[in-house]
Amino acid sequence: MKALILSGGHGTRLRPLTYSQQKQLIPVANKPVLFYAIEDVIEAGIKDIGIVVGPNKDQVIETVKSVDWDADIEFIYQGDPLGLAHAILVAEEFLDDEEFVMYLGDNILKNGIVEHAHKFKELNPESLILLTEVDEPQRFGVAELDENGRVRRLIEKPKVPPSNYALVGVYFFKPVIIEACRSIKPSWRNELEITDAIQWLIDNGYRVEASIVKGWWKDTGKPEDILEANRLVLDDIQPKNDGITENSKIMGRVVIEFGAMIKDSVIKGPCIIGKNSQIINSYIGPYTSIGNNCVIEGTEIEDSVVMDGSIIINAGRIVESLIGRNVKISEHDLKPKGCRFVVGDNSSVWL
Ligand code: TTP
Repeated sequence: MKALILSGGHGTRLRPLTYSQQKQLIPVANKPVLFYAIEDVIEAGIKDIGIVVGPNKDQVIETVKSVDWDADIEFIYQGDPLGLAHAILVAEEFLDDEEFVMYLGDNILKNGIVEHAHKFKELNPESLILLTEVDEPQRFGVAELDENGRVRRLIEKPKVPPSNYALVGVYFFKPVIIEACRSIKPSWRNELEITDAIQWLIDNGYRVEASIVKGWWKDTGKPEDILEANRLVLDDIQPKNDGITENSKIMGRVVIEFGAMIKDSVIKGPCIIGKNSQIINSYIGPYTSIGNNCVIEGTEIEDSVVMDGSIIINAGRIVESLIGRNVKISEHDLKPKGCRFVVGDNSSVWL
């Protein structure tokens, strides 16, 4: 079986971060979201991986190539992000008439995909889709199942949901999906929708099975999703201290990476402090990821993600925040007094 991991798209809901950074590279617990998908696919025994890249293709390729993966990885360029079914068509040559799993590169699943890959092999349908029970199915793509648990219908954001089963961003397919993707028309948002292609399979008498995801699943499409994914992943981290601590208190499960320096501070896990970062006279609270090469001084940070190279000095108390790379936040004693901002388009600041 092959794997097709999607790492294109504009990621508009994550602006301004996605002006400079492809959304699948945003770190969750200091690891790009995309790496969770690659690891899950490799764990399922798949050695042939195609990654669909789009607007910021070079940074995706460079980041993926910085790791020595136990798999062959090929990159497939999708000019414009014209939908998930369009991404399959673009990858037709790579897929080469074989069955495959399509994994959205901004999704994270606690328990990976091994058991679902087995189920796909065992049931041998044309497609097997992953579903999870949600509280508000109105906000998701929802599946209607028949009495045998097979998929009868897929409905995008239904007003009256036929079930609580929302689609997770992992799909198994036989090669007939290519014909389905070719047969459908673009939707109102001018995208070739994967839900329409799967519905085409059902309408043409092909079998689509469902597999229910146990454990959490997170689609990291919006800022609050990144923070939530960060909390979920940090909840499972194993503590380690490869850094230097001086006159500091470390409580709970904390990862301190090589070269990090913690001085006159309190760190309360679960949290992670990246390589070569300095935490001085500060408090880093639960569910916080501090990236590599950051400086945090005289500041309290809790329940937040701070990306590589950011410097935060005497900034008071920061909570539930998503802070990009090389950001500077500091107190000042300049005149006139007041808050000073250099904030990019579509940023949000709460004072
Ligand atoms: P979405 O989150 O639906 O789309 P998006 O990335 O454009 O985000 P936004 O709505 O905020 O603008 O995409 C799901 C995943 O599939 C995501 O990892 C991006 C990827 N993708 C592609 O690779 N190609 C595409 O044509 C599309 C639409 C998405």
